[in-house]
Amino acid sequence: MTTTTQDTPLVSEQQRAVEEELIETVVASFEHAPDARLKTVMQSLTRHLHAFVREVRLTEAEWSAGIEFLTAAGHITDDKRQEFILLSDVLGLSMQTIAVNNEAVGDATEATVFGPFFVEDAPEIPLGGDIAGGAKGQPCWIEGTVRDTSGRAVPGARIEVWEADEDGFYDVQYGDERVAGRAYLNADEQGNFTFWALTPTPYPIPHDGPVGRMLQAVRRSPVRASHLHFMVTAPGLRTLVTHIFVEGDPQIEIGDSVFGVKQSLIKRFEPQAPGAPTPDGRDLAGQDWARARFDIVLAPAAA
Ligand code: BEZ
Ligand code: FE
Repeated sequence: MTTTTQDTPLVSEQQRAVEEELIETVVASFEHAPDARLKTVMQSLTRHLHAFVREVRLTEAEWSAGIEFLTAAGHITDDKRQEFILLSDVLGLSMQTIAVNNEAVGDATEATVFGPFFVEDAPEIPLGGDIAGGAKGQPCWIEGTVRDTSGRAVPGARIEVWEADEDGFYDVQYGDERVAGRAYLNADEQGNFTFWALTPTPYPIPHDGPVGRMLQAVRRSPVRASHLHFMVTAPGLRTLVTHIFVEGDPQIEIGDSVFGVKQSLIKRFEPQAPGAPTPDGRDLAGQDWARARFDIVLAPAAA
């Protein structure tokens, strides 16, 4: 007699018993783990991995291809390139982990992927300063407030900002020691902040390795929707890692390669005519520019 379940295609009762017995044996092997959380994670991982193999009836050739893929990911990974995080990103696993760990609280700003291009020790800029540091692109005035979920201003909140230039490169990809397109600033006593950045443009994630080859094999684009990264910290409040996206960017419809877009994070970047007066009187020598507003709400820190 053959049976089928939601997860397992048609197999004989005898075959099914063999497969299920193996799962129970492996699950039981973790029974005496002294760390209860580790035991839970390993047992659940075992059940899900076996369910996957049984559902797709994974061939031995496919198993080998998977091992080769992971080996290649290991080989390309070093202290600058992290192919396993990239894999997690393009599978939506990073965004799922972020969703699980950043529970919605009131109107708290939504979180999104961290990405590989954050660097510690970025320079400090004053309110109204410029993060570009020589990176090329259209100047963009960003303004907003930092508040908590009760609507109270968060004075002095630390705001880290980083982005790619108009050619889609972060400073760490230039191959020299330049620091550009990144900085931090502190909100004022009323939680307000302003700074100059560059209007974000779309760019691909690193796609010259196994993850890029996988995207190519399944005809998926490596391109990310245009975005500006933020990390906002303040005592007693949950650290927010997020981006803002550009309303009307066609890549939002096409699809962000790491599933980072949230509707609430899409902001209007209002184009300004060449020579239009700037909010702080900065002389842009007749260049066009843009402006956007991002009001940030921080959730309480977990108890
Ligand atoms: C980025 O935002 O730059 C990024 C995010 C995830 C993977 C690769 C790049
Ligand atoms: Fe990015």
